[in-house]
Amino acid sequence: MALTQTSLEAPPFPVLEGTDHVELWVGNARQAAHVYSKAFGFDVVAYSGPETGVRDRVSYVLQQGRVRLVLTAPLSPEGEVARHVALHGDGVRSIALAVDDAEKAYEAAVARGARGVAEPTTATDRDGQLRYASIATFGDTVHTFVERSDYRGAHWPGFRPETMPASGVGVHHIDHTVGNVECGAMDAWVAFYSEVFGFTVFQEFDEHDIATQYSALRSKVTRDPKTMITIPINEPAVGLRASQIQEYIDYYRGSGIQHIALHTDDILETVGQMKANGVQFLTAPDSYYKALAEHRLDGVDEDMEKLKYLNVLLDKEDTGGYLLQIFTKPIGDRPTLFFEIIQRKGGAKGFGKGNFKALFEAIEKDQAARGNL
Ligand code: FE2
Repeated sequence: MALTQTSLEAPPFPVLEGTDHVELWVGNARQAAHVYSKAFGFDVVAYSGPETGVRDRVSYVLQQGRVRLVLTAPLSPEGEVARHVALHGDGVRSIALAVDDAEKAYEAAVARGARGVAEPTTATDRDGQLRYASIATFGDTVHTFVERSDYRGAHWPGFRPETMPASGVGVHHIDHTVGNVECGAMDAWVAFYSEVFGFTVFQEFDEHDIATQYSALRSKVTRDPKTMITIPINEPAVGLRASQIQEYIDYYRGSGIQHIALHTDDILETVGQMKANGVQFLTAPDSYYKALAEHRLDGVDEDMEKLKYLNVLLDKEDTGGYLLQIFTKPIGDRPTLFFEIIQRKGGAKGFGKGNFKALFEAIEKDQAARGNL
């Protein structure tokens, strides 16, 4: 991960333009697509599989606002997708980053210490050319650089457009994607994002910020100051084997993406619809709303009864802004990947530090029910 000292000047950083999509490798893409469409409100916009000439896997592309998810499942027990799913369960394989030059981005990242996974490749069909390349990040997760300025198709060569609109729930863009890494590995991965991409550490938390008996963690929020791509990295605190981060790592069999936070401009509407659609969320205890009403309300213009009814958490920041957030239960069978819905008001920039305790106690209730506490 360290820069080599062979050149006098460090090579330039890869030039990123934003998040292109997030690809999940799953056991059953057709059923996963149904859930993301019916429950999370994503339109199905593209498909690839045997019908489009792809023999070893099927993929569904789902879109809501600027959020694009790709769900891919294997068609046989051989191959990288089947191996990934057998080892990790359903999970995020790639956080794909939009670039204007995939080859340059790849070369820059590798020159700055990243490990290449897929060399720059051009994929072509009648809708044009798409260039891409991938580098490794924590665990089996990768970043794929996607250059699509010469491509007009639905998603990627080999995909056909689909028109299966859903009733959207108001999800707008990805606010952040969080990685869980092994105990002691956080700083090395923070350094990776700094050295390879020029990300800066925007905020950090440690076990003193989080006061439950079991779930201490450390977290550093890394961010690209230009595009605001934000990737917080968590590690379990030393000595707390029952930490929810450790539970994730045990079940995911290593480091990986813990949650994807989706931004909405109206969290009550979004969460109300998702609950009506059957999405299960973590619940905060009544005592959380009692404490909220007593302590943290200056400048907050919210209907507390509605927040309590929907179990939305609120974190007031010193700067005057506040954020509203809620977390789904894990989306698969293993207690690994979940989603966050987040709304920021008054310029709130944080990640819900004031909610960590309530959130972790909610997770611990479920952990205890799984016999993992
Ligand atoms: Fe988050």
